[in-house]
Amino acid sequence: MWEVVGKAAVVLLAARVCWSLLKGVYGSFLAAALGLHLSLKKTGDWAVVTGATDGIGKAYAFELARRGLKIVLVSRNPFKLQNVAAEISTKYGVETKIVDVDFTKDDIYDRLQRELGEMDVGVLVNNVGMGFEHPEYFNELLDCQKTYNSIINCNIKSLTHMSLIVLPGMAERKRGLIINVSSLSSIVPAPLLAVYGATKAYVDSLSVSLAAEYRSRGITVQCVLPGFVVSNMSKVKRPSLMIPTPMAYVKSSLKTIGVEARTAGYYMHKLQIYMIEVMKTYLPGGILTHIVFNQLKTIRIKGLKKREREAKAQ
Ligand SMILES: NC(=O)c1ccc[n+]([C@@H]2O[C@H](COP(=O)([O-])OP(=O)(O)OC[C@H]3O[C@@H](n4cnc5c(N)ncnc54)[C@H](OP(=O)(O)O)[C@@H]3O)[C@@H](O)[C@H]2O)c1
Repeated sequence: MWEVVGKAAVVLLAARVCWSLLKGVYGSFLAAALGLHLSLKKTGDWAVVTGATDGIGKAYAFELARRGLKIVLVSRNPFKLQNVAAEISTKYGVETKIVDVDFTKDDIYDRLQRELGEMDVGVLVNNVGMGFEHPEYFNELLDCQKTYNSIINCNIKSLTHMSLIVLPGMAERKRGLIINVSSLSSIVPAPLLAVYGATKAYVDSLSVSLAAEYRSRGITVQCVLPGFVVSNMSKVKRPSLMIPTPMAYVKSSLKTIGVEARTAGYYMHKLQIYMIEVMKTYLPGGILTHIVFNQLKTIRIKGLKKREREAKAQ
């Protein structure tokens, strides 16, 4: 009897993994090859990208410009913004606009409303986000109250308010696409990165609800959940099979637009998500948290040592 139950469980697990892999292959490769993904050019004239001067945001800005959209770049640093805007218009011959705002601040949305409210925005990429210098216990992070306020403003308030600014126009025109950048940290336990993980879970949850609310009004809302990508934030400098460059990540992710509403975007990150889901389903509760906690403790110790070295060097 138990032998039969055991075999059935293994068959079910194998079937589930195969189904997930096939779905992933369809979303990442087949659907785009068959031309089933959303045509970005049909969404409108402009694409707005937050956190657009580095990493994943910069790659979205370049790739959307390559596909013929005019680009609004939104970040903090006006000089970096001017440089990236010039690079884009020289390379792709599209119009650009820059808005320098700091998303950790509260008082920026009236200005953004004035700058963007009347434009034909087809695509909004809510990419901007920030994390910690290194993993740390909840109340032991340096200046934690201020840091948590900044993270909440930058990771949660930004996409909520940016979406409020562009959605009315999109709904009126009955077309549009919002891409919200969450993280794999939203689906795994994130002890020592608790606030970051929680903000990314908000991005995930809001996206799923908005996708359902606005689908019938012609607006697509996609949530992407990247694993590690080479960038300043991840502090990973060299790409590998598991850690793509921002451009490789974005090119892969854009193939899933209109096909997958919630996706890791990059095939190898999809595999990571499947592994996590399988572990969550089949391992006793708490084991995954324990594994992640131990990994992050090691990174925390390295981070603290680095901070100590830097303090001594000053
Ligand atoms: N890289 C990864 O491994 C990874 C994994 C999962 C999820 N993500 C998510 O992907 C998104 C992008 O991450 P990334 O790694 O590409 O970051 P990044 O390379 O550090 O780039 C961040 C961008 O955001 C801008 N920015 C930062 N703070 C800002 C603020 N307060 N106000 C306005 N603009 C600000 C930066 O420009 P300025 O400094 O000029 O303002 C820069 O353009 C984030 O939401 C992150 O959580 C990244």
